Amino acid sequence: MKKAWGGRFSKSSEQWIEEFGASISFDQELVLEDIEGSIAHVKMLGKTNIIPLEESEQIVAGLLKLKQKAEAGELHYSVSEEDIHLNLEKMLTEKIGPVGGKLHTGRSRNDQVATDMHLYLKKQVHIIMEHIKELQSALVEQAEKNVETVFPGYTHLQRAQPVSFAHHMLAYFWMLKRDYDRFEDSLKRIDISPLGASALAGTTFPIDRFYTAEQLSFSSVYENSMDAVSDRDFVVEFLSNSALTITHLSRLAEEIILWTSKEFSFIELDDAYATGSSIMPQKKNPDMAELIRGKSGRVIGNLVGMLTVLKGLPLTYNKDMQEDKEGMFDTVHTMIGSLKIFTGMIQTMTVKDDEMESAVNQDFSNATELADYLAAKGIPFREAHEIVGKLVLTCIQQNCYLLDLPLDQLQDACSKIDQDVYVILSPREAVKRRNSYGGTGFEQVKVQLEKAKQYVK
Ligand code: ARG
Repeated sequence: MKKAWGGRFSKSSEQWIEEFGASISFDQELVLEDIEGSIAHVKMLGKTNIIPLEESEQIVAGLLKLKQKAEAGELHYSVSEEDIHLNLEKMLTEKIGPVGGKLHTGRSRNDQVATDMHLYLKKQVHIIMEHIKELQSALVEQAEKNVETVFPGYTHLQRAQPVSFAHHMLAYFWMLKRDYDRFEDSLKRIDISPLGASALAGTTFPIDRFYTAEQLSFSSVYENSMDAVSDRDFVVEFLSNSALTITHLSRLAEEIILWTSKEFSFIELDDAYATGSSIMPQKKNPDMAELIRGKSGRVIGNLVGMLTVLKGLPLTYNKDMQEDKEGMFDTVHTMIGSLKIFTGMIQTMTVKDDEMESAVNQDFSNATELADYLAAKGIPFREAHEIVGKLVLTCIQQNCYLLDLPLDQLQDACSKIDQDVYVILSPREAVKRRNSYGGTGFEQVKVQLEKAKQYVK
């Protein structure tokens, strides 16, 4: 079969080599962006009289027909045309005749593919940002219902101090806000037009890059044609932002997995987000959370893969760069899927507030309260810490908790302890009193919840 670039060749590759080099099996995902980019380019060719206006209009009409077919899923691609760019050019000339061959005037696949990817990512990043917002709303909803739900806060996965469950949910809300901001900021660097850089050096034709940029709603154009066709930093940045976001999701997924276990028993997932076992009838597995935790692996892998492809590449375009696409597409799909699933999972989960509350009554997470209580009575904190540590040891030996110790025993440890200590030691009170800015005190949680609600509104 005759190649678009076949002039200087006297022999063709075998089919399997052609298949190895082709990208059409995956870059067809760029079909609409490719057509959009071509329409802008050919309109510009007409406007600048590089080709007759009437021919430019003919080509635009042909491209619009291809667009309709693409949207209806009626285009059939062929490996022998290598990639989406050459496939579409072939289809165009089949439709409108040899004039279709003028489309590629003053352009190269190098600026063409870069343009497609900028257009594609711009669209997808907006979609991902929307999904992040929805997940944030789900977290805010759960937080709103659970301001006064008290449960153990951990450090080192050891019970540390009781906290409000809303506080825990909102911690992820703020992480996701920074993720959202990072994606938003990255748009500045995605929203730049490489079109017109041509192969690497620009072109001798009097093209108008600002016109095509405007047609494609890009905010600016690359200042350097070699930079425009060689870099994929905007893809790296997207992959990096995605890797960080899914790392946040993966941490919450891990907590959900723990919380649904018998050992924690803090939440129950809706049946829709869990599965059973083919052998053990009693099982309800948090599959979706596990899967998202697992999917962080491929997203992080895609980032490392892209960096590795770029590292050591001389300017400008190299065929290595065809490897920029599958990881990007995969990341887009993985992120959208994971965010959607996560949102539903959070919205529908049942918070077992009774179990949470009874957990904090069966641990030593109120030990800091007692140390603070003594410190407030003038005992140096270091000494107070020692006194309480000994009391904890006594409890462990007697198989009880601090609240179970009678007043005389507490007073033996330190004479400054009074009856009011029992109020101080209640976990709920411990949470309530942590009213420093950004702390877990109910009043503080309400303050941040209000901010979070304003933000998702
Ligand atoms: N399929 C190619 C890619 O994705 C398009 C660019 C080809 N350019 C070239 N000079 N061979 O990278």
